[in-house]
Amino acid sequence: MQTQINGITIAYSDQGNGLPIVMLHAFPLNRTMWAAQEKVLSSRFRIITIDLRGHGESDAPLWHYTLEQSADDVNALLDYLSIPQAVFVGLSMGGYILFAFYRKYAARVKGLILADTKAQADTVEGKEGRFQMAQTSYKKGPSAIVDTMLSKLLSPETIQTRPSLVQQVRTIIENSQISGIAGDLMAMAERPDSIPLLNHITCPTQIIVGELDQATPPSDARLMADHIPNARLAIIPNAAHLANMEQPEAFNHIVATFAQELSERIDSQ
Ligand code: MLT
Repeated sequence: MQTQINGITIAYSDQGNGLPIVMLHAFPLNRTMWAAQEKVLSSRFRIITIDLRGHGESDAPLWHYTLEQSADDVNALLDYLSIPQAVFVGLSMGGYILFAFYRKYAARVKGLILADTKAQADTVEGKEGRFQMAQTSYKKGPSAIVDTMLSKLLSPETIQTRPSLVQQVRTIIENSQISGIAGDLMAMAERPDSIPLLNHITCPTQIIVGELDQATPPSDARLMADHIPNARLAIIPNAAHLANMEQPEAFNHIVATFAQELSERIDSQ
């Protein structure tokens, strides 16, 4: 499905009934990375997955991107769908966007699931790496960043033994638009440190991380769990950065348990 939001086309899927769960994807992927969550969780919850601006079937305008702007897109989509409040799942860049969303729209957040993400801003070297990646994809096309990204996103074992999953991720990256890739790299490089926000997060929060995640390792997840009041932490074995794709059953179980508890709490109020 598609709609016009903040001057561009935003694509999304909306399946199932019950407590709404909004899922924000990683960089440089799109909403199809949530297929295994959508399939299983939409039998119990209303699952909304969004192609963030710059990705998938949404427009990728050639302009300056910010994570706050993506948060504004999500907010406007929820207005359009008449959803006052939801549970939000953000994986990696999706998590960075959730911090921006929480700063502006905390009243909309029933619960937060922060997966394979981190609260710290980029280091100087991290920003330089983003600049280099933007130049490489601009000069040579998105396929030139696939191998670097794959080794960051998936575990070595997955890369060796699960060719169809590797191909799925490869195809998504290869089909990404340069404007979206460069726009998001700049947006992520400019994002603020969210550590000071953490102890102001008052909604129920679940943190998830793949035990083999090197991009946003378990130590980053523990830091968030230590600072967000009453946050829970789950570490998924045999998963790296895209834990929801590598270990969908474990990931779905954590999300379903968290959302079910929230639903029951809402029903008893
Ligand atoms: C992601 O998966 O969204 C990216 O790895 C985030 C990042 O580059 O910081």
